[in-house]
Amino acid sequence: MRASERLTWAAGLVDPAPGERVLEVGCGHGVLAALLAARLPDGVVVAVDRSPAMVAAATARNRAAIEAGRVAVLGGPLVAAELPERGFDVVVSFDVRAFWTPPGAEWDVVDRVLAPGGRVVVGFSVMAPDTADRVRAGLRAAAEPRGFAEHAVHRAGTEPLPAAAVELRRAPGG
Ligand SMILES: C[S@@+](CC[C@H](N)C(=O)[O-])C[C@H]1O[C@@H](n2cnc3c(N)ncnc32)[C@H](O)[C@@H]1O
Repeated sequence: MRASERLTWAAGLVDPAPGERVLEVGCGHGVLAALLAARLPDGVVVAVDRSPAMVAAATARNRAAIEAGRVAVLGGPLVAAELPERGFDVVVSFDVRAFWTPPGAEWDVVDRVLAPGGRVVVGFSVMAPDTADRVRAGLRAAAEPRGFAEHAVHRAGTEPLPAAAVELRRAPGG
């Protein structure tokens, strides 16, 4: 499978531990879901996308893993997805603006489905010099009121665009 540098980097950053349950929001063509599933022989990746065309593409790309019960692809917006409460150890997204753009209702879902001690990785392409600051400010505005705080910021000199990712976790007492 040909995968972009940014998604290959993101999969390495998430680096799921054996048995972890991963939720990917806005999976697009399902490339990151496939990369994560390949690293996770005994875990599960649930990928959600609101675009029917992307759901079809992600389903086709991950067909073998879906049949093996290691990947599921769900259609519709995250806020409408039926997901188990506290059912995921990791929530990841890449280039999904909803996480740093108001109203931020996706964070209510994250709060509901993330298991205690879980982590959230929000990746993005760095399109301009101020992208990372803008995204981090948007993430803070959306995530902090829901009890999440920035845990780490990662950057990569990927081509054709640099990439970055903010890792968030529940704030102490959050
Ligand atoms: C820019 S694309 C990125 C796709 C993929 N993550 C990647 O990096 O190649 C954003 C994707 O997120 C999906 N999306 C955006 N907001 C969403 C939401 N609230 N719930 C589910 N999917 C969403 C879009 O349909 C689209 O496929």
